[in-house]
Amino acid sequence: MTERIRVALEPAYDVWVGSGRDVLDAALASVDAGRASAVAVITDDNVAAAGHAARVTGAWRALGVPVHVLEVASGEASKSVAAWADLVEGLATLGLDRDAWVCAVGGGVVGDLAGFAAASYLRGVRFVQVPTTLLAMVDASVGGKTGINAVAGKNLIGAFWQPQVVVADVAALATLPPAVLREGAVELYKHALLVDAPWRAAFHGASFGLSPSLDAATWTELIADGVRVKADVVAADPLERGVRAYLNLGHTLAHALEAATDHAMAHGTAVAYGLAYAALLGHARGLADWRADAFALAGWAADAPLPDVPFADLRAFMARDKKRRAGRVRWVLLERVGQPIVVDDVPDDVLDAAWHALHGQFAARIHEEDSA
Ligand SMILES: NC(=O)c1ccc[n+]([C@@H]2O[C@H](COP(=O)([O-])OP(=O)(O)OC[C@H]3O[C@@H](n4cnc5c(N)ncnc54)[C@H](O)[C@@H]3O)[C@@H](O)[C@H]2O)c1
Ligand SMILES: [Zn+2]
Repeated sequence: MTERIRVALEPAYDVWVGSGRDVLDAALASVDAGRASAVAVITDDNVAAAGHAARVTGAWRALGVPVHVLEVASGEASKSVAAWADLVEGLATLGLDRDAWVCAVGGGVVGDLAGFAAASYLRGVRFVQVPTTLLAMVDASVGGKTGINAVAGKNLIGAFWQPQVVVADVAALATLPPAVLREGAVELYKHALLVDAPWRAAFHGASFGLSPSLDAATWTELIADGVRVKADVVAADPLERGVRAYLNLGHTLAHALEAATDHAMAHGTAVAYGLAYAALLGHARGLADWRADAFALAGWAADAPLPDVPFADLRAFMARDKKRRAGRVRWVLLERVGQPIVVDDVPDDVLDAAWHALHGQFAARIHEEDSA
């Protein structure tokens, strides 16, 4: 079973979701990738070691396209000016021309970095995304944001650059570490909350129904639905001036938690707490009560305790967030599940009370599997 989701941006492209080499071959054929003068396959050490890069280079070779593999170190540190400079210098040294393509094979780090290299090399060459993490499949590879981190902050340098095609081969998920899988699951669940997806209920079992060993057809359906949510939102707001803000559900607190822990807290953990916090704020405003679901998600997904800091410390980080508008901190809440709203008038005492409530719920929690 293969799903194709149209991302109606300018230019439009398809996200293919399925399992196995056939999907990759068909997706590359659909954009006539065989016309590439060469391809630079950009990946990281973990993804290469798991064999995923080799599968993709095989597909390009089968098209008769000369393949160059550029491997970066795994981890967020590779989204740096230095790593980007190495990559584009590498493309230039290889003598790649305007008809060469870049193909990212990896998680969001590789996708963002390789995408920005593709956007900037020769003022832009064609680009294919082969996401290999759940997060990259349902989130990072959809919407055309590419970029790297500055010393002063995450994702401050970048460009909108759309791929020709995205190919999510769910077979890649089998080698994903459980903690990385949970991070993607949090974003997938966030997408389900934004539209009240019918499959949201399927998440509510003990392990949220997700494991790397889930069968390919189930993964394909879940991921395709998650992609559809993001695709619809970004198509309605390509440049992030309006409804794209909904994707920040849970992220206002998450970004502050990441900053307060010097990025020691994983993004998925921070967003899981952020969703629980958004549920608390919504309840305090008399909106829908989805606290139980949000607490269950955080209980399953969080792999670090909440930092023991006063809310004022977090507020200081929020004041610096680049997504803030006109000096006010904006919160995405749910009027009801499936109906997000953006508010910027939550009083300080309500924010403080919700932070205390969140602490009461999660202060000493560490994911059991990881601490064992
Ligand atoms: N562009 C966007 O719209 C967007 C959206 C959300 C997040 N992001 C970015 O995405 C990044 C996070 O992405 P991520 O969570 O995928 O992290 P990641 O790319 O760092 O991957 C997580 C870890 O899993 C490893 N890995 C990847 N695929 C694997 C596989 N199939 N088997 C085994 N190991 C594998 C990686 O080497 C890495 O160690 C952040 O930099 C974030 O800013 C971008
Ligand atoms: Zn996120």
